[in-house]
Amino acid sequence: MSALRVRPAGGALRGECRVPGDKSIGHRALLLGALADGATLVRGFPGGADVRATLGAIRTLGARAAWSGDEVRIDGAGLALGAAGPVTIDCANSGTTMRLGAGLAAGHAGEVTLDGDASLRRRPMERIAAPLRAMGARVETSDGRPPLRVVGGRLHAVEWTLPVASAQVKSAVLLAGLRAEGVTRVREPLRSRDHTERMLVHMGVRLETHPDGLALAGGQRLRGAEIPLPGDPSSAAFLVVAALLVPGSVLAVRDVGLNPTRTGALAILCRMGAAITVENRREEAGEPRGDLVVRGGALSATTIGADEVPAAIDELPILAVAAAFAAGETRISGAAELRVKESDRLAALEQLRGLGVPLETSPDGLVVAGRGDRVLASGRVATHGDHRIAMAFAVAALRAPGGIVLDDPTCVEVSFPGFFDRLAALGAAVEPA
Ligand code: S3P
Repeated sequence: MSALRVRPAGGALRGECRVPGDKSIGHRALLLGALADGATLVRGFPGGADVRATLGAIRTLGARAAWSGDEVRIDGAGLALGAAGPVTIDCANSGTTMRLGAGLAAGHAGEVTLDGDASLRRRPMERIAAPLRAMGARVETSDGRPPLRVVGGRLHAVEWTLPVASAQVKSAVLLAGLRAEGVTRVREPLRSRDHTERMLVHMGVRLETHPDGLALAGGQRLRGAEIPLPGDPSSAAFLVVAALLVPGSVLAVRDVGLNPTRTGALAILCRMGAAITVENRREEAGEPRGDLVVRGGALSATTIGADEVPAAIDELPILAVAAAFAAGETRISGAAELRVKESDRLAALEQLRGLGVPLETSPDGLVVAGRGDRVLASGRVATHGDHRIAMAFAVAALRAPGGIVLDDPTCVEVSFPGFFDRLAALGAAVEPA
């Protein structure tokens, strides 16, 4: 797809919609399904490029998986999962595939190379290499970055304290811990998303959760299970903010994941004055879910500190966009991790300045001077091949009468196939630029 121009089409966003299944939970359903005994059925599979990379990974490691429509059936290989000879896994743009995939690869004696695209090749991998080495795997990186070469085998349990809250590192250690001798313990400075823990329990594994960390005894077998994915709250966040920014909008986003380790952005938006209500709250396969109903209206500025970052990490770009239209000065700090995501997201957000938004970044955050009546200048934005940057600026464009051009919009396929069609159906004008 070449460049696209997004601009407001005039009206409020009204009606209801759904978003693709949760990417984070989807990765885990594939990886744990591959390690389980028997069949696992994943429903609501989002089908984006990231989860397709994980589907390729588990097939390479020896699981059988059939994908049809929005369902994937995995015939797990049990704890013996692993390829016979040396194999290479293409993780494409997906950090979760690489980091959790390395945790899975470490538990088997084969040699596995994990590589990815130019963006993934820039991302830090020592954070998973170190604990996996401490468990007895051989892990080589290229100066701390991909490609990763993992030679696994007999692992022993570790006690690992994460320096930064990261669900990917925590999950990689837990995945390796399943095939390690002894009790693996993981501590994190702040609570990161807990989908791996919930799914392990759903698949019959005993996992102890203490206030200061997790404990998992190795050698436990996983039972294949049905895993219905809720809509991805990180994808929903773009549509929620879109509705908030266009006065008169009333939008229902049905069946969205409401795991409290993922709903930080909703809490922050409500504190900013957003009218967001939850209906039909329920729980399936250990994960809470429900419908979001959003009404457009005025927002006010807020302060987001380090303690709130893990539960809102992927939503910070769209929260920065919301802040540009919220009266007063919004400050985000403790978010240095944004610099090592699919792009340096703090640097990418500086492009808001070119659209007329006063914004300053620091090594770990930003300050935005917001205005409720702000109208953006038109302009051209580089997505840096980062899905969340592309979608954040597409939503910002709903307040840019002349439109915003996104140089490379294809990257949205990573997490939200059909995003631009959804935005157009809700009332944006999306056209080739
Ligand atoms: C993810 C964890 C987060 C998040 C990423 C997905 C996961 O990364 O930003 O998009 O599925 O575990 P970190 O673990 O690096 O914080």
